[in-house]
Parts: sequence; C-alpha cells; structure tokens
Amino acid sequence: MLRSAANDLKRDDASAEQDLGLPPGAFAELTSGRRPVDWDLVGKAAAVWPLNERDLLPIHDDCPDGVRIHRLADSVASGRTINRGGSPYYEYRDTAMSRVASYRPEWISMLRVVEDSDPDNPAVEWNRGHLLYQFTYFVGPVNYYYRWEGVSHCVEMNTGDSVWGLPFAPHSFTSRSSTEPAYILALTYGGDLLGDAQRELSVLGAGAARALALPAEQAALLRSFAQARLLSGEELARRAKLPAPYVAQLLSGEASATSDETAALAEALGVAVRELLPTRIDTEAGVHLAHRSGARSWELPEQGRAAYRVTQLAGDPAHPHTTALEVDVLPGADASDGWLTTYQHQYVYVLDGAPVELHWEHRGERRTDRLEPGDSAYVLPGTRLAFAAVDGAGAAQDGRTARVLLLRVGGATTTDVRFALATIPGDGIERYLDEDRLWFTSDAAPSDAARPAAVQTDAPQYDSTDQESAREH
Ligand SMILES: [Fe+2]
Repeated sequence: MLRSAANDLKRDDASAEQDLGLPPGAFAELTSGRRPVDWDLVGKAAAVWPLNERDLLPIHDDCPDGVRIHRLADSVASGRTINRGGSPYYEYRDTAMSRVASYRPEWISMLRVVEDSDPDNPAVEWNRGHLLYQFTYFVGPVNYYYRWEGVSHCVEMNTGDSVWGLPFAPHSFTSRSSTEPAYILALTYGGDLLGDAQRELSVLGAGAARALALPAEQAALLRSFAQARLLSGEELARRAKLPAPYVAQLLSGEASATSDETAALAEALGVAVRELLPTRIDTEAGVHLAHRSGARSWELPEQGRAAYRVTQLAGDPAHPHTTALEVDVLPGADASDGWLTTYQHQYVYVLDGAPVELHWEHRGERRTDRLEPGDSAYVLPGTRLAFAAVDGAGAAQDGRTARVLLLRVGGATTTDVRFALATIPGDGIERYLDEDRLWFTSDAAPSDAARPAAVQTDAPQYDSTDQESAREH
C-alpha cells in the first residue's frame, strides 16, 4: 500500500525517503516487507502526503481458508440479555462474521411475551431505528413491529417468514408464546452506505448530502449528468436528436423517455444506458415482507435428481446485490451436484433439522466440515460451495431434512469495480492487489534493482515469475 500510495503521488524511492525522513534504501525495505511499517511511519505519511492513515492500512484476513465456521456452543457462550424498559427483552448471540465483510448477523430470542398483536401494546419496547439495513428471518411465533412516517404496524410472523427493512425505521419484536421457541436471525449490513461514502459525506456535510440524494426517477439522473457535462437542455436535445421542449420536459420529470429515447440520451451524454435507469424500491412502509406461504420455490439442479429445494426470502430491487434464500438439502444430495458460487459475501446458518456437510474449494484446496443446527459460517466471495446430506441414522429415521439459511451480500467490489477489473491488462490485477514496485523504470535504477526484494518476499498473490514490461509516462 505504501508503494501504491507513493506511485500515485509520483514519488520514487529517493523522493519518498526525503518526504518521510528515511535513510537511503529504507523505502525499498519497507515496501518489500523486510522492514515493518509502524504507526509512526503511517502518521508521518498522512502528515506530509494528501492521504489518510487508513489508506495505508490493510484489512485483516481472518478467513484464509475461504470459510469461517462459528459453532453453536460459541454462539451460546456469547449470549447476553439486553434489557429494554428495565427488564429483559432480548437475548443476543453472535453467529459467524468476518472482518472482511461488513454484515453483522445475530441470533436474537424474544423474551417479552404478548397476548395480542396490537402495535400500541405498552409491553412493546421500540428502538429508535438504526443506520444499517436489516434482513430478518423468523423462527416460531414472533410479532414484528415497525414504524414508518409515524404509523406503527404489527405483523404476526412464523417460521420461514422474512422481512427486509430500510435504515432508521424503528422496530421491535416480541413472542406470542411463553412455551415455544421464538427467535430471529437478524442480519444487519451497511451496504454502500457505510465506509468510504459515509466518510466522504461526513466531510461534505449534511447540506451537500441532501443535494446529492437522488430520487428514484430518470429526470434526476438526466439533470445530474447534464450538469456534470455543462450541457444545456438545448444542446442535449440536439445531440439526442429530440425536440428541445420535449427534452426540457424529460429534465423536469413532466415526461418519461421511451427506451429508444433513453438510448439516444445515453449516447448524447456519452454514458451507458444503465446510468440513466433509476433504481426501483418496492418497500411498503419501509419494509418488504415475505411470508412463507407466498414464497417462490424451485429445485436445483433442473436436470436429474434434485439436490436442493431453494425458497426465495425477503429482499428488494433497491438492493440487487443482496440475496436471501432458504435451501433444503435433499436426501442423497452430495457435493458432486454442483457448486453454489457467488460474487457476494455469504452467510450460512443451519436451521432446525438435520446436520449438513459443507464442502468448499478455495484457492484450489478442497475442504469439508459438518455443520449442526445452530452452527453458522461466513464464506468469502467466489468460494465454491456445496452442501451434502448427512446419511446419519438420526437424520434418516426421523425424516428431518437439513435446512440452511443463506444470506448473500455484495461487498465493496461493486459492478463498476468488476467492469474495471476486466479492463486491467496482463499482470495488472496482481499489481493492483499488491503493488510493490515503481511505476517506471529509470536508467539509473533498472526495474529489478527498483524491486530488489520482490522475489524474496512471501507476499501472497504475487507471481515473481512475471515479466514486467517497462512502462513510462
Ligand atoms: Fe434491528
């Protein structure tokens, strides 16, 4: 990261050493890993260069095998009772999470029992809503309360029901039974709202953030691109070969473009058509409810014996990179039935039923582990994954099926980033991930001398056999 930052700022070793007050040769030692980068150096770099400390810090890889398993016993041990209104309201337990992904999945048991489904029941303790998006999977007789624009709602939920909710909507959960288990799996995640966007906007301020908010309509996108390009409505109309008064109506939202007109406007603006398509938000009162009775189900694979029965859970078109599924691992399913692979971060929770075998392949290595109900796992994007039925006597005799909750959430590698990755030539992706050399070859410092330790380091993902072509600009 230090080399990459120095390259971006067009510093070679000597000028970087001068900026950072380092002796000759020290910068190459730092960027090769032979000398550790300490906090003093990070602070110094952030003081003299226009970057932030965090730009120089790597994230922790706590998932070197591709899958991080969290056992039921560890979840139970993490249990803590949370009071609301002075008495116990929830028991929280941690389940699988990773430093690589921003989602925060919790098992939460409802300790407050109610006798009705009245949203104004005084026994219900509401929160104030939170920044994170929330997907919730329900087990048992759980009342779900949510409030949107001052109106309170209560929905009776049961096993297999789910909901997806927008940030900042107050909500609560209670149990309708003092004897049956009543709990939820609550998966909160920030999506693109957290991280870099939030940090940038906190500098820009609330006024700028309000001005940047895009309503889900094409006119707002058209105005934004026209402003960015200093294009008048008339010039846009000439370029798109559309009448100027009509383009004025499109820009104000009084008219809606056909798909042919949208294509002409995209051409006129020099953008892909998808940049002019607004998002779609299907929530009602801030939430998208999915009851098991109406859920869509299908089997995989389509040909031959089915291994999985998949049921779609709650989600929303506003978050196309979030997928929630319930997967029944059918008797006889084994790992040869095909990999379930996705670009998303993945959370696995084994629901009540039979245990299941998890098979996965990460960086060429195959592994397997057995998961019991209540166990959970985090899976890195791109890891090949398969579930197999456990042919144990217990599972077969009482007819239980293994049932797995899958929540898949897109990470920082957005569609735009993935398009960009495809444009990086040759060994560029390795360099993008682990830049350890100068961006040019100078006469006085041949490329091999400029990266003297490259072949000695154990930096992962760096192919020391590659042939770098000298690139100068
Ligand atoms: Fe919540």
